[in-house]
Amino acid sequence: MLSVKLCGAFASALFLTFGAAQASSYPERPDVGFGQPISEADIQPWNIDIHTPSGAGLPPGEGTVAQGREVYQARCLACHGEKAAGGPVYGTMVGGIGSMTERPRVLTPGSMYPYAPILFDYTRRAMPMDAPQSLSNDEVYAVSAYIYYLNELIGEDFKMNAETMPQIKMPNRDAFIVDDRPDAQAERCMSDCPPIGTVADAEWKAGD
Ligand code: HEC
Repeated sequence: MLSVKLCGAFASALFLTFGAAQASSYPERPDVGFGQPISEADIQPWNIDIHTPSGAGLPPGEGTVAQGREVYQARCLACHGEKAAGGPVYGTMVGGIGSMTERPRVLTPGSMYPYAPILFDYTRRAMPMDAPQSLSNDEVYAVSAYIYYLNELIGEDFKMNAETMPQIKMPNRDAFIVDDRPDAQAERCMSDCPPIGTVADAEWKAGD
């Protein structure tokens, strides 16, 4: 019973921290509403997705393992633990390479991600969880270098940037399979579309 209560207190403390920090760290929302045009400049801070297989969309900037260690100690340690080996709210982010066919699988950026830039995209977008999108691009490159260094995928002198990051060969890259089941193919319908996911869908396709 005691542990349940403690958990509850911890969860609400986390919740309050997240609420306070998020308000100040996201880019400012543009002042537009329905029916109003939005400028490219206003979209730009939100248009941050990266094509992770090629690295297209990775921004300018650079970071080293040593710089990343500093970012990590200041911004990530509290939740992810010493050397990313696991902390109070999340398990390890190191190791597990080769464990995909074992039980339990150890899912880490090193063992799981097929493409190295996924770590940049995810971290820039979502971490640190108490203040997402508060890191500079240099800091995201640096902390990514530190995490991949801990996973023994790069050396201590590696300079992480838009050119070098996509070149890291991830151990699990070739273990993903393409889902080619026919019902997993989505055909885009732009007009006169059937209701989604209904029997009518199948009938419409059959020409009824
Ligand atoms: C307030 C706690 C907290 C802080 C601080 C934090 N994280 Fe996280 N992180 C989490 C939680 C919780 C998850 C799991 C999220 C989920 O599964 O949806 C997570 C998940 C991740 C993952 C995904 C791991 C995987 O195996 O795919 C990465 C990478 C990550 N965090 C990196 C960072 C980095 C880098 C920092 C520092 C810049 C950081 N985190 C700071 C709580 C935190």
